[in-house]
Amino acid sequence: MKITVTTSDLAGVDSAFLALPFSSGELEKEAAPRLAALGIDAQVLKDFKAEAGEIVVSYGESGKCSASRVALLGLGETVTLDDWRKAARSFASRAVEMKIESIAVDFSGIEVLVVTIGQSVATLVAAFVEGCYGGSYRFDRLKSGKLDKKESGESSKGICELLLRVTAGAVAKSEEGAAEGRIVGACQKMARDLVNLPGNYLQAVDIAKAAEDSGKTYGYEVTVFHKHEIEALGMGGLLAVNKGSHYPPTFIILEYKPKEKAKNVVALVGKGVTFDSGGISLKPSENMGEMKSDMSGAASVLGAIEAAARLRLPVHIIGLIPATDNMPGPTAQRPGDVITTYSGITVEVGNTDAEGRLILADALTYGKEKYQPDVIIDIATLTGACIVALGYSVAGFFSNNDKLADAIFQAGEHSGEKVWRLPLWDLYAEQIKSDVADVNNTGGRGAGTVTAAKFLEKFIDGHKNWAHIDIAGPSFAPKGAGKVNGGTGFGVSLLLEVLKKLA
Ligand code: BES
Ligand code: MN
Ligand code: ZN
Repeated sequence: MKITVTTSDLAGVDSAFLALPFSSGELEKEAAPRLAALGIDAQVLKDFKAEAGEIVVSYGESGKCSASRVALLGLGETVTLDDWRKAARSFASRAVEMKIESIAVDFSGIEVLVVTIGQSVATLVAAFVEGCYGGSYRFDRLKSGKLDKKESGESSKGICELLLRVTAGAVAKSEEGAAEGRIVGACQKMARDLVNLPGNYLQAVDIAKAAEDSGKTYGYEVTVFHKHEIEALGMGGLLAVNKGSHYPPTFIILEYKPKEKAKNVVALVGKGVTFDSGGISLKPSENMGEMKSDMSGAASVLGAIEAAARLRLPVHIIGLIPATDNMPGPTAQRPGDVITTYSGITVEVGNTDAEGRLILADALTYGKEKYQPDVIIDIATLTGACIVALGYSVAGFFSNNDKLADAIFQAGEHSGEKVWRLPLWDLYAEQIKSDVADVNNTGGRGAGTVTAAKFLEKFIDGHKNWAHIDIAGPSFAPKGAGKVNGGTGFGVSLLLEVLKKLA
């Protein structure tokens, strides 16, 4: 997407689709004269309430207005950063539906919004650009092509050009914001593509390849351990989950080191289960296909690290991704098996469908031991119970450090990727006691999200600054949830905001 910042006068903005953002409070006095200047009949305002994301398309009078279509774009009443992003997504999504490739937006009111929303020009522009990437995202690469063709026989390329029309004083900050929004938007797109790729297109080696490509392009280090190295290291959790698979596992390490000395070393651990059938504890077949998204944690770690590298954040980041699928088969692990993890801790596998925590266990211990990070954050589609608790829009999280918890909560509020903290009280550890091993990988009925977190906590070896984020709900929009189903890229922006706070 080519993004251009311009100060040209509004009527002269030459675009196929120009958005004029309005809060509902602005409608009464300001809308009519702005429309008149473009030769748009004020009658259109009868059908426009300026709810966040609402769009009414209008046509300017030729001669008065260079844009061929004008969108009145609603920002809602109070106008929050979330409303602002929602408006951007809605506008870009409409453009894609209309097969429009070049869009523009009027930011002449941005200084007012800076005050209402309480964010800088650069932040608002970045959020809008990010929203345009999000709203225009479609996953169509596996279609044979016929379905996506226009009547003319030519397929739409999506949005190629975004023109931002700003006042002279806001040019520099808008350009800065646009550059950031573009990077975040592109990294979210990468994460969504990985999540949407089904199990027959994305195996553990393919996640490794995606990481290597990103590292090569954006100048950070990527190391991949293959099966023999994983065996030599004794990563018993990852190997146990991989036992039923036809495909070998990988253990991927990303390292981004800034030029200047960094205040913090942050380890990000992402669950990379490329498909979760449940293993011998097989899942029901209904919607099982959605389990191609069980590597969303890995995708968000990769996306956030690429973004941090491209933005040259002054923080030292280690990404750790254990990757495999979870399949049944003659060599698969059985319920009741006892395995020895990388840490030496033995685990009774009460349920082979509680596989995420087994592979994360190895990655957490390895990351802590090898890199001695100041902060460890893992992110995973870990429990269906988290969806029951918080739904499809919000992630649950845990931390043994109140300052880190606060940073993660604030990052969620800022990025729009909302998180809610759950407790790590020791009373929950009762549920994962095992008669035969050190710990059981399932906690029985009740508090499934908490017992999963209590399990992970055993593998951080007493680290005092750890957090676990369960993104089972918001990582994937199931069919019928919204216009665009599938991978959401949730976590990229959240983790990036956390990294900024730790820089
Ligand atoms: N990947 C699933 C969790 C999940 C469920 C993610 C639905 C997204 C949507 C995870 O591996 C799993 O199967 N968890 C089990 C744990 C149980 C067996 C203790 C679950 O949530 O049922
Ligand atoms: Mn599972
Ligand atoms: Zn899983």
